[in-house]
Amino acid sequence: MHRTQVGGALLPVGDVNAAVSAFLRTSPPRLRWDVDFDFDWSGADANRLTDGERSAVEFITIIEDHLPGYFALYEKNFPVDDSVDLETFTHNRELYHFTIRWAQEEDTHARALERYQVAAGIAGADELRVSLAQEGHKTFDLPYTDAVQFFTYPLVQEKATQIYYQHLRQVVGDPLLREILVRLSKDEARHFSFFADMVRLYLQRHGDAVVGPIREVIADFRMPLADTIRGYWRWALKIADTARYDHTEAYDHLIKVVNRAVDAKSDKVDELISFVTACRVLQTT
Ligand SMILES: [Fe+2]
Ligand SMILES: [Fe+2]
Repeated sequence: MHRTQVGGALLPVGDVNAAVSAFLRTSPPRLRWDVDFDFDWSGADANRLTDGERSAVEFITIIEDHLPGYFALYEKNFPVDDSVDLETFTHNRELYHFTIRWAQEEDTHARALERYQVAAGIAGADELRVSLAQEGHKTFDLPYTDAVQFFTYPLVQEKATQIYYQHLRQVVGDPLLREILVRLSKDEARHFSFFADMVRLYLQRHGDAVVGPIREVIADFRMPLADTIRGYWRWALKIADTARYDHTEAYDHLIKVVNRAVDAKSDKVDELISFVTACRVLQTT
């Protein structure tokens, strides 16, 4: 993998440490969960699901299963090796405490959904492994130029995913699947909080300098894998019939973060807020 430190301003390492420490404190050992020990897999039953609900499970399994691709973005853009100077390394090493824990949690999401599909009889283990690999080995890239963009994109994506899982869990017919979706949405909410903290700190430290890069993320926003999954748009519309799926619901949360970060708003910040508000109505899945 080619590693090149991303451009744009970075946060002081003390800020990163504060955000990472706050995130790690949100998962005390007694609240952590595990695929092998926390569910009664014998209760999984796809006969309780509608076709649309099964389809939604298949869809989110693919999205969660792409974790190696998401994780690689941070390894690539925030290298933890001798390709960067010592100060940058120190920053990246601090961030790594987050990414490694986050990646572990996301990998658990992928395993939980895969296990559910097999236990519920949606798919056979071998056939599912092969079909996940077909999507999983495709490259996912976010060709951003500024560090802050690697926190803005997941701020929206994590919140959108959390909201979607909450909508979905309200309709699904299998209690075990509901339980899984509760676990997942709680984790996505914690992930969102970390990225929201980071974006807030970027705005507070760097002000107008990060407004343009944040705006660009929203201007081009597409959910992960929208460009690589075969038949993505048709599928996204289909699952929206089962439970509301609209990533722009997450934009309200970005607006809140911006509002809270900056007391006296510059023209650039005001313009950013109106822009995101306008996209909230215009963009669809
Ligand atoms: Fe997840
Ligand atoms: Fe997440």
